[in-house]
Amino acid sequence: MTKRPVVVATRHFPEAVEQRLQSMFDARLNPEDRALSHDELVARAQGADGLMVAATGKVDADLIHRLPASIRIIATFSVGYEHIDIAAAEQRGILVTNTPDVLTDATAEIALLLLLAAARRAHEGAAMLRQDQWTGWTPTQLMGIGLTGKRLGIVGMGRIGQALAERARANGMEIHYYNRTRLSPEQEKGAIHYATVEALLPQAQFLSLHCPLTPQTVKLMDARRLALLPEGAVLINTARGGIVDDEALIAALKSRRLAAAGLDVFDGEPKVDKRYFAIENAFILPHMGSATIETRNAMGFRAIENLQAVLIDGKAPPHRVKA
Ligand code: DGY
Repeated sequence: MTKRPVVVATRHFPEAVEQRLQSMFDARLNPEDRALSHDELVARAQGADGLMVAATGKVDADLIHRLPASIRIIATFSVGYEHIDIAAAEQRGILVTNTPDVLTDATAEIALLLLLAAARRAHEGAAMLRQDQWTGWTPTQLMGIGLTGKRLGIVGMGRIGQALAERARANGMEIHYYNRTRLSPEQEKGAIHYATVEALLPQAQFLSLHCPLTPQTVKLMDARRLALLPEGAVLINTARGGIVDDEALIAALKSRRLAAAGLDVFDGEPKVDKRYFAIENAFILPHMGSATIETRNAMGFRAIENLQAVLIDGKAPPHRVKA
Protein backbone atom coordinates (compact mmCIF):
# COMPACT_ATOMS: atom_id res chain seq x y z
CA MET A 1 0.00 0.00 0.00
CA THR A 2 1.36 3.42 -0.89
CA LYS A 3 2.05 5.69 2.03
CA ARG A 4 -0.66 8.30 2.51
CA PRO A 5 0.37 11.91 3.19
CA VAL A 6 0.41 12.81 6.87
CA VAL A 7 -1.69 15.79 8.00
CA VAL A 8 -1.62 17.24 11.51
CA ALA A 9 -4.89 18.78 12.68
CA THR A 10 -4.11 21.38 15.31
CA ARG A 11 -7.69 21.45 16.67
CA HIS A 12 -10.69 19.15 16.86
CA PHE A 13 -12.70 19.73 13.67
CA PRO A 14 -16.34 18.75 12.95
CA GLU A 15 -16.96 15.01 12.74
CA ALA A 16 -17.67 14.92 9.00
CA VAL A 17 -14.49 16.89 8.36
CA GLU A 18 -12.31 14.62 10.48
CA GLN A 19 -13.87 11.55 8.83
CA ARG A 20 -12.99 12.88 5.39
CA LEU A 21 -9.51 13.85 6.57
CA GLN A 22 -8.97 10.33 7.90
CA SER A 23 -10.30 8.74 4.72
CA MET A 24 -7.77 10.59 2.58
CA PHE A 25 -4.74 11.13 4.78
CA ASP A 26 -2.85 9.67 7.65
CA ALA A 27 -4.45 12.21 9.99
CA ARG A 28 -2.99 13.11 13.35
CA LEU A 29 -6.05 14.48 15.13
CA ASN A 30 -6.47 16.47 18.31
CA PRO A 31 -9.65 14.93 19.77
CA GLU A 32 -9.18 16.65 23.13
CA ASP A 33 -9.11 20.01 21.26
CA ARG A 34 -6.30 21.36 23.36
CA ALA A 35 -4.53 24.50 22.08
CA LEU A 36 -1.08 23.12 21.30
CA SER A 37 2.09 24.91 22.32
CA HIS A 38 4.68 25.47 19.60
CA ASP A 39 6.82 22.68 21.09
CA GLU A 40 3.90 20.24 20.98
CA LEU A 41 2.97 21.19 17.45
CA VAL A 42 6.55 20.90 16.20
CA ALA A 43 6.75 17.45 17.82
CA ARG A 44 3.47 16.32 16.21
CA ALA A 45 4.58 17.69 12.83
CA GLN A 46 7.69 15.49 12.61
CA GLY A 47 7.47 13.51 9.37
CA ALA A 48 4.17 15.17 8.43
CA ASP A 49 3.37 16.73 5.04
CA GLY A 50 0.75 19.29 5.94
CA LEU A 51 -0.99 21.13 8.75
CA MET A 52 -4.65 21.94 9.11
CA VAL A 53 -4.85 24.90 11.49
CA ALA A 54 -7.59 27.17 12.80
CA ALA A 55 -7.87 30.94 13.16
CA THR A 56 -7.22 30.73 16.89
CA GLY A 57 -3.65 29.47 16.73
CA LYS A 58 -0.83 31.83 15.83
CA VAL A 59 1.45 30.39 13.16
CA ASP A 60 4.22 32.94 13.45
CA ALA A 61 7.70 33.06 11.95
CA ASP A 62 9.20 31.32 14.99
CA LEU A 63 6.88 28.33 14.60
CA ILE A 64 7.28 28.23 10.84
CA HIS A 65 11.06 28.15 11.10
CA ARG A 66 10.85 25.25 13.53
CA LEU A 67 8.55 23.12 11.38
CA PRO A 68 10.17 20.08 9.76
CA ALA A 69 11.24 20.40 6.11
CA SER A 70 8.61 17.80 5.19
CA ILE A 71 5.72 20.28 5.69
CA ARG A 72 4.53 21.56 2.31
CA ILE A 73 1.21 23.18 3.10
CA ILE A 74 -0.55 24.98 5.93
CA ALA A 75 -4.30 24.88 5.27
CA THR A 76 -6.19 27.17 7.57
CA PHE A 77 -9.79 26.35 8.48
CA SER A 78 -10.74 30.02 8.13
CA VAL A 79 -11.12 32.74 5.56
CA GLY A 80 -8.98 35.13 7.63
CA TYR A 81 -5.26 34.40 7.60
CA GLU A 82 -3.68 37.18 9.61
CA HIS A 83 -2.71 34.57 12.23
CA ILE A 84 -0.19 33.09 9.77
CA ASP A 85 3.09 34.71 8.80
CA ILE A 86 2.68 34.10 5.09
CA ALA A 87 6.02 35.69 4.18
CA ALA A 88 7.86 33.35 6.58
CA ALA A 89 5.98 30.37 5.11
CA GLU A 90 6.85 31.45 1.57
CA GLN A 91 10.51 31.77 2.53
CA ARG A 92 10.43 28.12 3.53
CA GLY A 93 8.51 27.10 0.42
CA ILE A 94 5.36 26.24 2.39
CA LEU A 95 2.04 27.01 0.68
CA VAL A 96 -0.71 28.66 2.74
CA THR A 97 -4.40 28.29 1.88
CA ASN A 98 -7.70 29.55 3.31
CA THR A 99 -11.44 28.84 2.92
CA PRO A 100 -13.10 31.75 1.08
CA ASP A 101 -16.77 31.97 0.02
CA VAL A 102 -18.23 29.30 2.26
CA LEU A 103 -18.54 31.60 5.30
CA THR A 104 -20.40 34.34 3.50
CA ASP A 105 -23.99 33.55 4.42
CA ALA A 106 -23.33 32.47 8.00
CA THR A 107 -21.31 35.60 8.74
CA ALA A 108 -23.87 37.88 7.09
CA GLU A 109 -26.55 36.20 9.21
CA ILE A 110 -24.63 36.88 12.41
CA ALA A 111 -24.06 40.48 11.33
CA LEU A 112 -27.81 40.87 10.84
CA LEU A 113 -28.46 39.21 14.18
CA LEU A 114 -26.08 41.67 15.88
CA LEU A 115 -27.66 44.57 14.03
CA LEU A 116 -31.13 43.62 15.21
CA ALA A 117 -30.08 42.59 18.70
CA ALA A 118 -28.06 45.75 19.32
CA ALA A 119 -30.73 48.04 17.87
CA ARG A 120 -33.58 46.33 19.73
CA ARG A 121 -31.75 45.96 23.07
CA ALA A 122 -32.06 42.18 23.05
CA HIS A 123 -29.40 41.72 25.69
CA GLU A 124 -31.13 44.04 28.18
CA GLY A 125 -34.52 42.42 27.55
CA ALA A 126 -33.17 38.89 27.93
CA ALA A 127 -31.26 39.81 31.10
CA MET A 128 -34.34 41.47 32.62
CA LEU A 129 -36.35 38.33 32.04
CA ARG A 130 -33.73 35.82 33.17
CA GLN A 131 -33.00 37.82 36.31
CA ASP A 132 -36.72 37.79 37.06
CA GLN A 133 -36.87 41.59 37.00
CA TRP A 134 -39.66 41.98 34.48
CA THR A 135 -42.68 43.52 36.08
CA GLY A 136 -44.74 43.62 32.90
CA TRP A 137 -45.16 45.49 29.64
CA THR A 138 -45.00 49.27 29.82
CA PRO A 139 -45.37 51.85 27.04
CA THR A 140 -41.78 53.06 27.39
CA GLN A 141 -39.96 49.85 28.23
CA LEU A 142 -36.77 48.94 26.35
CA MET A 143 -37.45 51.15 23.37
CA GLY A 144 -34.87 50.50 20.69
CA ILE A 145 -34.15 51.71 17.17
CA GLY A 146 -35.96 50.39 14.09
CA LEU A 147 -34.08 49.35 10.97
CA THR A 148 -36.64 50.37 8.38
CA GLY A 149 -35.62 53.46 6.43
CA LYS A 150 -32.23 53.72 8.17
CA ARG A 151 -28.87 54.08 6.44
CA LEU A 152 -26.49 51.14 6.83
CA GLY A 153 -22.84 51.93 6.16
CA ILE A 154 -20.68 48.96 5.17
CA VAL A 155 -16.91 49.14 5.31
CA GLY A 156 -15.57 46.49 2.93
CA MET A 157 -18.07 45.47 0.28
CA GLY A 158 -16.68 42.04 -0.52
CA ARG A 159 -18.72 38.84 -0.45
CA ILE A 160 -19.86 39.19 3.18
CA GLY A 161 -20.53 42.93 2.94
CA GLN A 162 -22.70 42.33 -0.12
CA ALA A 163 -24.54 39.44 1.55
CA LEU A 164 -25.32 41.66 4.54
CA ALA A 165 -26.46 44.45 2.19
CA GLU A 166 -28.92 42.00 0.61
CA ARG A 167 -30.36 41.08 4.01
CA ALA A 168 -30.45 44.68 5.20
CA ARG A 169 -32.33 45.78 2.08
CA ALA A 170 -34.95 43.15 2.91
CA ASN A 171 -35.29 44.97 6.25
CA GLY A 172 -35.90 48.27 4.51
CA MET A 173 -32.42 49.73 4.97
CA GLU A 174 -30.59 51.99 2.54
CA ILE A 175 -27.05 50.83 1.74
CA HIS A 176 -24.01 53.12 1.73
CA TYR A 177 -20.52 51.68 1.48
CA TYR A 178 -16.80 52.21 1.39
CA ASN A 179 -14.71 49.86 -0.69
CA ARG A 180 -11.35 50.54 -2.31
CA THR A 181 -12.84 49.72 -5.69
CA ARG A 182 -16.35 50.71 -6.58
CA LEU A 183 -18.65 47.77 -7.36
CA SER A 184 -20.37 47.37 -10.72
CA PRO A 185 -23.95 48.71 -10.88
CA GLU A 186 -25.24 45.09 -10.88
CA GLN A 187 -23.39 44.41 -7.62
CA GLU A 188 -24.19 47.79 -6.11
CA LYS A 189 -27.94 47.35 -6.52
CA GLY A 190 -28.42 51.03 -5.76
CA ALA A 191 -25.92 51.21 -2.87
CA ILE A 192 -24.05 54.50 -2.62
CA HIS A 193 -20.27 54.37 -2.83
CA TYR A 194 -17.89 56.66 -0.89
CA ALA A 195 -14.25 57.06 -1.81
CA THR A 196 -13.08 57.20 1.82
CA VAL A 197 -14.21 55.75 5.14
CA GLU A 198 -14.34 59.31 6.50
CA ALA A 199 -16.85 60.31 3.84
CA LEU A 200 -19.07 57.31 4.62
CA LEU A 201 -19.16 57.61 8.42
CA PRO A 202 -21.38 60.72 8.82
CA GLN A 203 -24.05 58.92 6.74
CA ALA A 204 -23.98 55.66 8.68
CA GLN A 205 -26.77 55.41 11.25
CA PHE A 206 -25.64 51.77 11.42
CA LEU A 207 -22.09 50.79 10.53
CA SER A 208 -20.95 47.24 9.85
CA LEU A 209 -17.28 46.31 9.41
CA HIS A 210 -16.32 43.74 6.79
CA CYS A 211 -12.71 44.52 5.96
CA PRO A 212 -9.75 42.25 6.78
CA LEU A 213 -7.36 43.10 9.59
CA THR A 214 -4.25 44.48 7.90
CA PRO A 215 -1.62 47.04 8.99
CA GLN A 216 -3.86 49.64 7.29
CA THR A 217 -7.03 48.66 9.20
CA VAL A 218 -5.61 48.19 12.72
CA LYS A 219 -7.76 50.42 14.97
CA LEU A 220 -9.47 51.85 11.90
CA MET A 221 -12.42 52.75 14.12
CA ASP A 222 -10.54 54.97 16.53
CA ALA A 223 -11.91 57.88 18.57
CA ARG A 224 -11.62 60.28 15.64
CA ARG A 225 -13.54 58.10 13.21
CA LEU A 226 -16.12 57.00 15.78
CA ALA A 227 -16.81 60.69 16.37
CA LEU A 228 -17.69 61.06 12.68
CA LEU A 229 -20.66 58.69 13.06
CA PRO A 230 -24.04 60.35 13.65
CA GLU A 231 -25.14 60.71 17.28
CA GLY A 232 -26.90 57.49 18.35
CA ALA A 233 -25.32 55.29 15.66
CA VAL A 234 -24.95 51.52 16.06
CA LEU A 235 -21.63 49.78 15.31
CA ILE A 236 -21.41 46.12 14.25
CA ASN A 237 -18.20 44.11 14.05
CA THR A 238 -18.05 40.57 12.70
CA ALA A 239 -14.68 41.05 11.00
CA ARG A 240 -11.77 41.26 13.45
CA GLY A 241 -11.57 42.87 16.88
CA GLY A 242 -8.33 44.67 16.07
CA ILE A 243 -10.16 46.93 13.60
CA VAL A 244 -11.80 48.75 16.52
CA ASP A 245 -10.07 50.74 19.25
CA ASP A 246 -11.70 49.29 22.38
CA GLU A 247 -10.85 52.31 24.53
CA ALA A 248 -12.65 54.64 22.12
CA LEU A 249 -15.63 52.35 21.57
CA ILE A 250 -16.17 51.73 25.28
CA ALA A 251 -16.11 55.50 25.92
CA ALA A 252 -18.60 56.12 23.09
CA LEU A 253 -20.97 53.41 24.38
CA LYS A 254 -20.75 54.56 27.98
CA SER A 255 -21.47 58.16 27.07
CA ARG A 256 -24.31 56.93 24.79
CA ARG A 257 -22.86 58.89 21.91
CA LEU A 258 -23.23 55.55 20.18
CA ALA A 259 -26.58 53.95 20.95
CA ALA A 260 -25.25 50.41 20.83
CA ALA A 261 -22.69 48.00 19.46
CA GLY A 262 -22.96 44.39 18.32
CA LEU A 263 -19.64 42.58 18.53
CA ASP A 264 -18.75 39.03 17.52
CA VAL A 265 -14.97 39.56 17.55
CA PHE A 266 -12.52 41.07 20.02
CA ASP A 267 -9.01 42.40 19.96
CA GLY A 268 -6.69 39.78 21.49
CA GLU A 269 -9.47 37.19 21.74
CA PRO A 270 -10.18 34.90 23.49
CA LYS A 271 -9.13 37.52 26.03
CA VAL A 272 -11.90 40.10 25.93
CA ASP A 273 -11.75 43.55 27.48
CA LYS A 274 -13.89 42.71 30.51
CA ARG A 275 -15.42 46.19 30.57
CA TYR A 276 -17.70 45.03 27.73
CA PHE A 277 -19.39 42.57 30.09
CA ALA A 278 -20.89 45.42 32.11
CA ILE A 279 -21.91 47.62 29.19
CA GLU A 280 -25.60 47.04 28.71
CA ASN A 281 -25.71 48.61 25.24
CA ALA A 282 -23.11 46.16 23.93
CA PHE A 283 -24.51 42.94 22.53
CA ILE A 284 -21.58 40.55 22.50
CA LEU A 285 -21.02 37.07 21.11
CA PRO A 286 -17.95 34.78 21.25
CA HIS A 287 -16.83 34.77 17.57
CA MET A 288 -19.76 32.71 16.29
CA GLY A 289 -19.97 34.18 12.79
CA SER A 290 -19.25 30.95 10.95
CA ALA A 291 -20.69 28.61 13.58
CA THR A 292 -23.31 26.67 11.65
CA ILE A 293 -22.96 22.96 10.96
CA GLU A 294 -23.23 23.59 7.23
CA THR A 295 -20.58 26.30 7.21
CA ARG A 296 -18.10 24.58 9.50
CA ASN A 297 -18.34 21.41 7.39
CA ALA A 298 -17.91 23.43 4.20
CA MET A 299 -14.87 25.20 5.68
CA GLY A 300 -13.32 21.86 6.56
CA PHE A 301 -14.03 20.37 3.13
CA ARG A 302 -12.50 23.43 1.50
CA ALA A 303 -9.36 23.11 3.64
CA ILE A 304 -9.21 19.43 2.64
CA GLU A 305 -9.54 20.35 -1.07
CA ASN A 306 -6.42 22.45 -0.65
CA LEU A 307 -4.55 19.67 1.15
CA GLN A 308 -5.64 17.17 -1.48
CA ALA A 309 -4.50 19.35 -4.38
CA VAL A 310 -1.00 19.74 -2.96
CA LEU A 311 -0.40 16.45 -1.18
CA ILE A 312 -2.34 13.95 -3.32
CA ASP A 313 -2.86 15.44 -6.77
CA GLY A 314 0.41 17.38 -6.94
CA LYS A 315 -1.46 20.47 -8.16
CA ALA A 316 -1.67 24.11 -7.15
CA PRO A 317 -4.17 24.52 -4.29
CA PRO A 318 -7.43 26.23 -5.31
CA HIS A 319 -7.34 28.74 -2.45
CA ARG A 320 -3.76 29.84 -2.00
CA VAL A 321 -3.06 33.08 -0.16
CA LYS A 322 0.09 35.07 -0.76
CA ALA A 323 2.10 37.62 1.22
C1 DGY B 1 -12.59 33.12 9.66
O1 DGY B 1 -12.75 32.11 8.98
O2 DGY B 1 -11.69 33.92 9.44
C2 DGY B 1 -13.55 33.36 10.75
O3 DGY B 1 -13.27 34.43 11.52
C3 DGY B 1 -13.79 32.13 11.60
O4 DGY B 1 -15.15 32.20 11.86
